[in-house]
Amino acid sequence: MASCLPRVCRWRASPPRSGRRSTSIRRARWLPYHAFAEAFAPERPLICYAVKANANLAVLRVFARLGAGADVVSEGELRRVLAAGIPPQRIIFSGVGKTRTELEAALAAGIHQINVESIPELQRLSALAAARGDTTRVAIRVNPDVDALTHAKIATGKKESKFGIDIEEAGEAYRLAGELPGVEPVGLAVHIGSQTGGGLGPFREAFERLAELVLELRGAGFAVHRLDLGGGLGIRYRKETPPEPADYAALVREAFGALELDLAFEPGRVLCGSAGLMVARVVYVKAGASRRFLILDAAMNDLIRPALYDAWHDIVPVRLPAPGAVLSPADVVGPVCETGDTFATERDLPPLAEDDLVAFTGAGAYGAVMSSTYNSRLLIPEVLVAGSRFAVIRARPSYEAMLGLDAVPDWLADPIEPASLRAVPGGTA
Ligand SMILES: Cc1ncc(COP(=O)(O)O)c(C=O)c1O
Repeated sequence: MASCLPRVCRWRASPPRSGRRSTSIRRARWLPYHAFAEAFAPERPLICYAVKANANLAVLRVFARLGAGADVVSEGELRRVLAAGIPPQRIIFSGVGKTRTELEAALAAGIHQINVESIPELQRLSALAAARGDTTRVAIRVNPDVDALTHAKIATGKKESKFGIDIEEAGEAYRLAGELPGVEPVGLAVHIGSQTGGGLGPFREAFERLAELVLELRGAGFAVHRLDLGGGLGIRYRKETPPEPADYAALVREAFGALELDLAFEPGRVLCGSAGLMVARVVYVKAGASRRFLILDAAMNDLIRPALYDAWHDIVPVRLPAPGAVLSPADVVGPVCETGDTFATERDLPPLAEDDLVAFTGAGAYGAVMSSTYNSRLLIPEVLVAGSRFAVIRARPSYEAMLGLDAVPDWLADPIEPASLRAVPGGTA
C-alpha cells in the first residue's frame, strides 16, 4: 500500500498578528497561498497557481475557492482548471510548445493572457486569433540568461535553455506582436527555474534585466502594462533556506515599484509542496553484501524526483520509534527494475521491519502529478486531508481499467501460426 496525501498545511512563517484585517484569511486556514497573497497585499497581483505542481481537481478546487488564478501549460490543464471553477479571466497559458488545438482552446475560453515563447508561436497565434476575429492579449516570455542555481533539469532561464525569447530579441518580438493582427502585446513574462538557490540573488538579477527592458520598450513607444514574474520560490526539503514571501515581495517592489505595472505570479511548489506526504509500506528488509536495503511498495513511478533530480525527501517512520532507538544506514528503494529506483542511499533510519509504514515528506508538488504506471504498477490513491476530514480524491485504478487502455489489433487476434512459431529460435512446433 502506498498513498499520496496532498494535505492542507501551514506555512512556516507565522500567520498575521491578530487584529490585522483580512477577511478571507480570517475565514480560512493559514496556508502558503495566504502568506504569498499577504506579502503582496498592496499590489493585489494575479496569483496564478502553477497547475503542473499538483493538478488534482480537488487541489485545484482549494485554489479556486481561495480566489487564485491558474498558470496552465496544456489543454488538459486548461480543462482541469475550468472544471475546478477558476474563471478564464484568471488563467495564463505558458509553455514552449503549444499546439494549434491548444491555442484554439485558449482562444475559445477567452483566457487572461497567453505567454508567447517564440516568434513562430506568435505568428501562429496571430493567424488563429485573426481567423476567429479575436484579439488576444499576449506577454512575451523573456529568457534573461540567468542561472537559477537549481538542478540543471529545472533551470529554465539560461540562454541555452529552450524557454522564452532571448532578452536581446525580446524587443523585436514585442514590436512584431504590436504589428500582427489578432494579438495585443500587454507585457512581459519570466520564469528562471524551480526550487531556485542562492536566496534572492537569481531573482534580483532577472528582475533587474526585466525592469531595464520595460524601460527600453516604453522608451521606444510601446505600452507595457503587465509583468508575469513566474514561479520558482522553493521549499525546504533538507537544509535549504528559501526566501520568505515578504522578502521576495520587497525585492519585487524594489525592482518594479516605480513602474506601475499589473503584476502576476505563477507559484507552484511553494503553495503545495510541503502539504503532501507519500506513505509507503516496507515489503522486505534485505541484507545486501555491503548495504541494508529497505524495499518499499512505492517506487520511482510513484515519486520520480529522487531518480530524476537526485532530490532529497525526508523519510520518517509513521509510528514513532521506541525511545533510544539507534539509527543505522539503509538504502531505501522501490521494486522497479532499475537501479535508479532508489529513494535514498545510506539514510540513517530507526529499526524498520516488514509491513511498517514510512512517509516521504514534501511530496505535495511534482509528486503524484509526475507518476506513471511504469512496470504496470497501478497509480496509488490520493487522499486530501483537511483538519479532521479526509477524502479519497483519486481512487486506485483497477487492473481491468489499466489493461482496458490497450487494444490488440484484429490481425493479432488469431492464435500464433505454426510456421511463425517454428521461426522462433527454440520454439516448439
Ligand atoms: C512557466 C512556469 N511557471 C511556473 C512554474 C512553477 O514553478 P514552481 O513550482 O517552482 O513555483 C514553472 C515550473 O516549472 C514554469 O515552468
